[in-house]
Amino acid sequence: MTAPTTSAPTADDDPDLPRPKDSADPTDPFDKDVLPTPPGATASLLRSLLTPLKARVALTTLLLLLQQAAVQAGPLLVAYAIDNAVPAFRNHDHGPLIAVAVGYLLCALVSGGLQYAFVLASVRVSQDVLLDLRGRIFRHAQALSIDFHERYTSGRLISRSTTDVESLRELLNEGLQELVTVVLSFVYISAMLLWLDPGLGAVAVASFVPLYLLVRLYQRRAVRVYRVRSTAIAAVIVKFVETMNGIRPVRAFRREAVNDTEFRELNRRHERVNGDALLEMARYVVGSRLVANTAVALIVLWGAYRVASDSLELGVLAAAVLYLRRLYDPIDRLGMFLNAYQSAAASLEKIAGLLAQTPSVPEPSTPVELPALEGDHPGREVVFDGVRFGYRTGGEVLPRFDLTLPAGQTVAVVGTTGAGKSTLAKLLARFYDPTDGRVLLDGVDLRELAVPELRRGVVMVTQEAFLFSGTVAENIAIGRPDATREEIERAAKAIGAHEFISALPDGYDMDVRKRGGRISAGQRQLVAFARALLADPAVLILDEATSSLDVPGERAVQRAMSTVLRGRTAVVIAHRLSTVEIADRVLVMEHGRIVEDGSPAELVAGTGRFADLHRAWRDSLA
Ligand SMILES: Nc1ncnc2c1ncn2[C@@H]1O[C@H](COP(=O)(O)OP(=O)(O)OP(=O)(O)O)[C@@H](O)[C@H]1O
Ligand SMILES: [Mg+2]
Repeated sequence: MTAPTTSAPTADDDPDLPRPKDSADPTDPFDKDVLPTPPGATASLLRSLLTPLKARVALTTLLLLLQQAAVQAGPLLVAYAIDNAVPAFRNHDHGPLIAVAVGYLLCALVSGGLQYAFVLASVRVSQDVLLDLRGRIFRHAQALSIDFHERYTSGRLISRSTTDVESLRELLNEGLQELVTVVLSFVYISAMLLWLDPGLGAVAVASFVPLYLLVRLYQRRAVRVYRVRSTAIAAVIVKFVETMNGIRPVRAFRREAVNDTEFRELNRRHERVNGDALLEMARYVVGSRLVANTAVALIVLWGAYRVASDSLELGVLAAAVLYLRRLYDPIDRLGMFLNAYQSAAASLEKIAGLLAQTPSVPEPSTPVELPALEGDHPGREVVFDGVRFGYRTGGEVLPRFDLTLPAGQTVAVVGTTGAGKSTLAKLLARFYDPTDGRVLLDGVDLRELAVPELRRGVVMVTQEAFLFSGTVAENIAIGRPDATREEIERAAKAIGAHEFISALPDGYDMDVRKRGGRISAGQRQLVAFARALLADPAVLILDEATSSLDVPGERAVQRAMSTVLRGRTAVVIAHRLSTVEIADRVLVMEHGRIVEDGSPAELVAGTGRFADLHRAWRDSLA
């Protein structure tokens, strides 16, 4: 039974986030949401995402430039209408006014068409970027070592590939367009105003200074708020995923109320931080409107005075006011863009940090092949040569470990809880690399073996036999995807799983649904055995793999196992001594060392720990 994991609201440097006392380690970068990101990693990630789409990015930009030109022609036409076309109309010359009307209509049509094309093009660019990015996160996370996954929770991975990718989407779809539009209209409009009337233009350009300062101030404050906000939402997701993943212990230990309280607190915190972000935004909007309206009022007053004193044409003033409105309108949206930019930058930094992680169990650059098998047995020799190992987060588990398993031998490993049995198994499956020394398979260091060959050569079956969504048959065939139905059934029969599978509603075609909630733990273990048998590995590791089976079931499996294990090199870790009887050799482990080593009969006859264990077990059966 797994104990209920204490909640770990993973979060960062923020002191007011509740966190359980036992999980906080300020020196562990994994305890923070942002993994150390090498300098320039974020920029180079962005570059590598956009480079393949260069041509389309250029096209999208061009469409936007043209669209803006069409939009900004409007006020100029109005000025022409007031100052030239209307006087001409009074003189019964209809031509100029009609030309203005047609021109205005054309500009509207063209800018609409260009806008449409731009939206299509930009959405396709952003879709491609996001597709690429999500794929990279998945592939990279899957390639990273077990060691990484033990520390970086699945909730964080989910929040990387959902909310973080999403905030990048917002930036690409909406934010960037805003920014380009704002910058372009600033340039266009300032140029137009200066050209129409240098005096009015100068006032408008002067108003950019306070606006710029305002934007800078807002941006500085927003960076902080947004970083906290994205961490707060990640904490909510992590809590959610963790609770749902552990729903069974949550129920069993009545953790619902505690979880509710913790979740509510995290949720509230997220809400609070969101409120802070909105407040910053509101301050910015109010400030920028104040500056804008003051500038418009000044220009209108001064302009009206000059129109009255005949030093400015009315049409020019009208165009200037129209332009000013267009100039200041997008400033609110600039704030929005900055928002999108802030949160996308924070997200991209986190994603870049994740993608910059390198597997601690790397693939060899020049893989060595295993020698061809000799004879007709599939087993291979296993050697632990001066292996030392400790988990990153703990002390040394294996102090110095030497062990040779001849090809084809079945070795049972017993020992107290925490002795290092599973650690031994995981080193042999190369979930981790030893800190010192080597693990050899037929003389080849596991580190030099190509990963596919290693996965074929060494198969581990553990207590928590995991079933993937799909049918029972598919689950068995994972060990050998090209297996025929006949081979799958033969494997199931050899294990003794055929009866229960045939009795299922759809037999081998039953969908196990996620996590195999519909079939019992013991049945899951049988499926996992069949999977291992079909994979036909040289080395088979069973770590408490029979722990969920009832005793008759276990007996049947034991019979099947002795067939399966014959000729293979096998490491069987078991608490139940009945399982040990099928072994050729027994190792008793204690604190990472082998304290007894011999055949079952020898050890039982001796006076060591195994003999004691065996006697106690015998007595318990009587
Ligand atoms: N992922 C991990 N990170 C840090 N320490 C670990 C990790 N896994 C195991 N340990 C520690 O390593 C030691 C050996 O654990 P291991 O799982 O190998 O024991 P075991 O012999 O398989 O025990 P059991 O019989 O309970 O399965 C224990 O002290 C444990 O706390
Ligand atoms: Mg174990």
